[in-house]
Amino acid sequence: MALIAPSMLACDFGNVEAEVRAVEAGGADMLHIDIMDGHFVPNLSFGLPVVEAMNRVASIPLDVHLMIAPYEPYLEAFRDAGAARIAVHVEAGDHPHRALQAIRDMGLKSGIAINPGTSLDAVAPLLSVADQVVVMSVNPGFGGQKFIPETFERVAALRAMIGDRDIDIEIDGGVGEGNARDLINAGASILVAGTSVFKADDYGTAIRALR
Ligand code: DX5
Ligand code: ZN
Repeated sequence: MALIAPSMLACDFGNVEAEVRAVEAGGADMLHIDIMDGHFVPNLSFGLPVVEAMNRVASIPLDVHLMIAPYEPYLEAFRDAGAARIAVHVEAGDHPHRALQAIRDMGLKSGIAINPGTSLDAVAPLLSVADQVVVMSVNPGFGGQKFIPETFERVAALRAMIGDRDIDIEIDGGVGEGNARDLINAGASILVAGTSVFKADDYGTAIRALR
């Protein structure tokens, strides 16, 4: 059992309102919002006005994944746009500990995201200020990429590192029916799913298959 967070990056942007309503009706637990800056990652996605628009329609929490550097100047703006959770990348700045505290001080859930090429040791000192670790199972920047299988071992190792602390492990990238069960068994509590939900004929069926 895991919470399912459809990645809005894969939705039909000509129909954002209908897409938000459709994944909610399908049982989504939160909306995963991918913010890319063309600098930290080699792609641009969308910005604050689009997040605000999604938030106006959504009744489930917004899970904002910042793939931007620097991230400090934008934390409050994303709070104001409706974020319930904000994750910053451990690779994207020198002061992730301060950022996670700042996110918590705003009353939101704090997340630390980690790229496939970064040692898990990088997040160990941050676990005391993190509500969520976003384990990237692809290199960030694009939807629809192939899942990196080493993720299973990383999730299990991270779960052991977390112990009995109340910290979510969220998996992001290439998640589908073929790997969801094993990810949950390894310790994942939130699954992000872009392509596997939005390219499905029926969003509800796709979400149930992941859970
Ligand atoms: C990748 C993003 C992901 C992506 C997931 O940089 O962080 O959230 O949209 O999309 P799929 O599920 O299609 O890999
Ligand atoms: Zn993401």
